Amino acid sequence: MTEFDPKLFDNFLGPKGENHDLLKRLVNRALDRHSRWRAASYADDETLYPSARETAPALEKALDRLLDRAEESVPYFHPRYAAQMLKDPAIPTVLGYLAFMLANPNNHAYEGGPVTTEMETEVTDLLLRMVGFEEGWGHLASGGSLANLEALWAIRDSREEGAVYFSEVSHYSWKRICAILRIEEYAEIECDADFRIDATKLADALERKPAMAVVVNLGSTGTGSVDDLEAVLALRDRYGFHLHVDAAYGGFARAALIDGDYRLVPESEDVGVSAHTRRQLAALGRADSITVDPHKLGLISYGAGAVVYRHERLRRAVLNTAPYTYHKKDKPNIGMFSLEGSRPGAMAAACWLTYQVLPPNRAGVGLAVRASIAAAREFRELIEEIEEYVPLHAPDLDIVCFYRRGAESTVASANEATLAIYERLSVEAKDPPFVLSKFVAPASIAAKAAPELDNPSGEPLSALRVVFMKHWHALDEFRYVRELIDVLRRTAR
Ligand SMILES: Cc1ncc(COP(=O)(O)O)c(C=O)c1O
Repeated sequence: MTEFDPKLFDNFLGPKGENHDLLKRLVNRALDRHSRWRAASYADDETLYPSARETAPALEKALDRLLDRAEESVPYFHPRYAAQMLKDPAIPTVLGYLAFMLANPNNHAYEGGPVTTEMETEVTDLLLRMVGFEEGWGHLASGGSLANLEALWAIRDSREEGAVYFSEVSHYSWKRICAILRIEEYAEIECDADFRIDATKLADALERKPAMAVVVNLGSTGTGSVDDLEAVLALRDRYGFHLHVDAAYGGFARAALIDGDYRLVPESEDVGVSAHTRRQLAALGRADSITVDPHKLGLISYGAGAVVYRHERLRRAVLNTAPYTYHKKDKPNIGMFSLEGSRPGAMAAACWLTYQVLPPNRAGVGLAVRASIAAAREFRELIEEIEEYVPLHAPDLDIVCFYRRGAESTVASANEATLAIYERLSVEAKDPPFVLSKFVAPASIAAKAAPELDNPSGEPLSALRVVFMKHWHALDEFRYVRELIDVLRRTAR
């Protein structure tokens, strides 16, 4: 990691609340402006309330109880929390959300939120450019699962038949989505030693049964592995199917590859990701549809997924009208072509404001993504030097999984040793110096990723999992990465 851009300090509250005064001043500004707007609306109407008659003791007490409970929660904002994909939301996310939540627009229909619908359209345009779609459409969703569900629903209703294929390490929602849509013909395709879909196995499956859709992971949930999208694109040319990329987690990594005009930077320029990941990110724009969640690597708080499509026919497949709304035919009514009904206009505002100051290209989100990936790569190098630990994969994105060697060279023994470490570094441990998570690799993949381990009982391999999603991990010469390494070294002894 070279220089840490000041944008990555200024736009976040900071692990110690460093930007508390800034956030407070701007929250007050948003609140003041909102109240002035209230006062000015129907300005001739008289007030219904004498202002600030009395305090609200019940509210204050309840608020204090709530704030106490907030502090009993996990400090997800801290770099010592590296267990799950929890990103600290940027300050503009909080401000954008607050400014519009106070009036509570609904982006279901234009009439429910004309300004925020336009913001959503502008944000979607940015996402289309970020993923490399020259044309297309899309919208925000409450999360990646809903975005994936809508995509497969639209695909199913616009194609005749065929199976659905996704890799065996895909997000659990895919099997549920198939159940919800009553798609019985789906298959989980084996992965290779890098936890990426095995393109040869996929081709075999396509030979046996044509596909309606193939899902490619651009960032699997467990290990952050990036499937070989280029290989699957070649299969699409040969067999013809809808190629959906589940880039819920990793899609925003493409921000690191693109300049202010949303064009790929020349290949000679270092973008801080591996050659494999870079090639797949560069190819993303050739997919048919993509799930890409602002609430994962996109710096936004929870409640912001997104789905983008290249084909107009999928929009027709999900088109919906209602007798009591969608009256403005010349305006975007997002609910007409999305699965979800009411959605917060405030979320579109949060995304809009965030991407004004931290755009989804290398001058904004890309900086944060690069820092996270740099931390993962640094960690991977350092953990390799410790005799007691063995990394399971090279980080395609910002997740690293590794196991602790056991007394014997078997999966059972490694599991026992790894779980002993996990017990001291999990969210359930008492005062853990770091909070990590666990990834359980199916025995079939463990045999490829950790071939040095015998596995007579055929059990899955438990690994420790670190998610370096906070860009602070790269700060101060990777201070927290080095500290985690020290903790792991000590805990192993
Ligand atoms: C690859 C992938 N797809 C889909 C999802 C589901 O997203 P959400 O939890 O926002 O519904 C996740 C969540 O981690 C994911 O990693």
